[in-house]
Amino acid sequence: MTNTEIQVFPDLDELSRAAAEEFASLAQTSSSPSKPFAAALSGGSTPQRFYELLATPECSSKIPWPRVHLFQVDERCVPPDDPRSNYRMMREAMLERIPSAHFHRMAAEEPDRDAASARYAAEIRQILGAGSEEWPRFGVIYLGMGDDGHTASLFPDTAALTERQLAVCPNYVAKLSMYRLTLTLPVLNAAKRVIFLVSGAGKAEMLRQVLRTPRSASPQYPAQLVQPESGAVAWYLDKAAAAGLG
Ligand code: 6PG
Repeated sequence: MTNTEIQVFPDLDELSRAAAEEFASLAQTSSSPSKPFAAALSGGSTPQRFYELLATPECSSKIPWPRVHLFQVDERCVPPDDPRSNYRMMREAMLERIPSAHFHRMAAEEPDRDAASARYAAEIRQILGAGSEEWPRFGVIYLGMGDDGHTASLFPDTAALTERQLAVCPNYVAKLSMYRLTLTLPVLNAAKRVIFLVSGAGKAEMLRQVLRTPRSASPQYPAQLVQPESGAVAWYLDKAAAAGLG
C-alpha cells in the first residue's frame, strides 16, 4: 500500500525551499561511499526554483555531491541547447553552479530514440546496481503534473503509459506534435520516494480529480498511476494548486 502525504505551502518559493532542504537530508542519510544516492529530476517550469536552491552555497554545501547521481525523468527530443530542452533548464538553474555532480543526460536528440532509451536504461541500472531483470530503484524521483494529469512524459492515451517491459522508452505526444524519452511507470513505481511538485491555480481542478477521485474511476490520469509498491508518494503543493482539495 503506498503511503501518500500532502504538504501545502504558501507559495512556490516556500515549496521549493522545503524540497531543497529535504533533498539535502535524503542525500546525506541515504548515501555512502559504496552506495550512491540516485535521484531522477523532472523538467518543466515548476522545479526550476528548487534546482536553483540546490545550487546555492547554503544548500549545496550540505549535499555530498560525490555520492549523488542525478538522472532525468524525461526529455524532449530536441538538441540539448534548445530552449525546450529540460537539460538546458537544469544546466542553467543548477548544473553550472554545483561541484562536478554525476549528471546523466538523456540523449533524446539522437535519431535512434530506441537505442538512446536502451542506453539510458542500461546507465541507470549500472549506477543503481540493478540487474537486467529487475526495476532500478531510485532513492527519490521528482515529478510534475500537467493540467491534463500527465506526469513525466506519460501523457493520457499515449503508448508509453502502458509500457511495462522497458525502463525508458520514446513516446510520441500527438497533442504536442513531438517525441519525448521518458522513464516508464514500472520505474516510477519502484522508487523509494516520489515527490510531486505542483504549483499554480491552473493545476487545482486536475489535482482535485487526481487526489480526490478513486483511481478505479474513469478516466484514469497518469499521475494517479504513480503508486510505488514499497515506497511513498509526497505531494508538495502551493496554496493555489491545493485550492480544490478542501
Ligand atoms: C516536462 C516534464 C513534465 C512536467 C509537467 C509539468 O518535460 O515537461 O517532465 O512532466 O513535469 O508538464 O510542467 P510544469 O512544471 O511546467 O507545469
